[in-house]
Amino acid sequence: MAKDPVCWMEVNEKEAGSKYVYKGKTFYFCTPRCKETFSTSPEKYLTKLEGDALVERKVVIVGTGGVGATFAFNLMISGLANSIVLIDLAREVAEGHVMDLQHGLSFLPPSQIYVGDFSDCRDADIVVITAGAHMKPGESRIDLVRKNVAIFKELIPQIVQYNPRILLIVSNPVDILTCVTQKLSGYPMNRVIGSGTVLDTSRFKYLLAQKCGVDPRNVHGYIIGEHGDSEVPVWSEVNIGGVPIDDFLDHNARESQSVKEQIFNQVKNAAYEIINRKGGTNFAVSLAIMQIVTSILRDENRILTVSTLLHDYYAIHDVCMSIPTILNRNGISRTIKIKLDESERAKLSSSAKVLEDVFKSLDFD
Ligand SMILES: NC(=O)c1ccc[n+]([C@@H]2O[C@H](COP(=O)([O-])OP(=O)(O)OC[C@H]3O[C@@H](n4cnc5c(N)ncnc54)[C@H](O)[C@@H]3O)[C@@H](O)[C@H]2O)c1
Repeated sequence: MAKDPVCWMEVNEKEAGSKYVYKGKTFYFCTPRCKETFSTSPEKYLTKLEGDALVERKVVIVGTGGVGATFAFNLMISGLANSIVLIDLAREVAEGHVMDLQHGLSFLPPSQIYVGDFSDCRDADIVVITAGAHMKPGESRIDLVRKNVAIFKELIPQIVQYNPRILLIVSNPVDILTCVTQKLSGYPMNRVIGSGTVLDTSRFKYLLAQKCGVDPRNVHGYIIGEHGDSEVPVWSEVNIGGVPIDDFLDHNARESQSVKEQIFNQVKNAAYEIINRKGGTNFAVSLAIMQIVTSILRDENRILTVSTLLHDYYAIHDVCMSIPTILNRNGISRTIKIKLDESERAKLSSSAKVLEDVFKSLDFD
């Protein structure tokens, strides 16, 4: 027996009133009317079958270095995608990761994991791009811009010729590469997302939680702007379980300021500190990517600080950077205008200027 994806009736395949092939899968309907309804908007009805085996979820990972491979492992364990495709210029490395991952599948719900090529992006829900150079000790994210823009100029056209639904950019400098991808792909802005400051916000919450002696999940706050040296902590909105941070800390103003500076510096310099010790970051960033991918695949409407093209956000135009954004099956649903005090607004505007200047130097229209 199959399930009609529109009315959810059980349908005997042999007696079905109608059938329809979508993304290589045959769906059966109790009436032609159900089929007609389904064919106008199949994704809508597949979403309704959340958790049902009928939902095909395919994620392609381009770039299987430290970040891409760790994300592939997290995604496999989550059981969220039934097809995971790995692509890397160094094909043998991708093959090695695939074999290693496949050997764990007997412990997990079934999924397909394989090495692919760009044609595998054809019916992908999300293509996660982690390809390119990474920061070496002493380098900033912006220092990577020339190398990685050159890689993206080759990569993006090869991916978008197969029209995958959503592109998620992780490679650095992530805000610039999100903008570059937007231009190269011609996709509408909801379908191009940068991982932005989702990781920085998580670092911020963790460090604040340590200071306050609470679970990081009860810390509410955001790091916005560039994923990089000009990023901005929104202290005016930080609260611990609903209590404003200054009240929770209960310090005098000078002590409070010093705690805040210390925490923010640790957040801003976290990648440098880790890279100096182990050459790269991979664990927390892949969990950050998981949050974004989960919210899209499960249509969760979660609010995350991803990088997106801003229009008239506190007078910022045409710059990709991070602000709290609702993510669902369509990618970016909408951005949220949070309250910023005067100094936060000024810092956000300086952060936008940094990115604008870098982007202008690249000679894109
Ligand atoms: N946005 C974030 O929060 C965040 C966090 C950590 C790392 N990063 C960035 O992610 C990127 C990857 O980091 P990493 O540590 O995994 O680097 P890595 O050097 O370990 O891996 C990069 C991979 O990309 C592959 N690659 C290069 N050019 C390619 C191409 N044209 N097509 C396909 N594959 C290609 C390489 O073969 C390599 O396997 C870097 O740019 C890094 O700065 C971003």
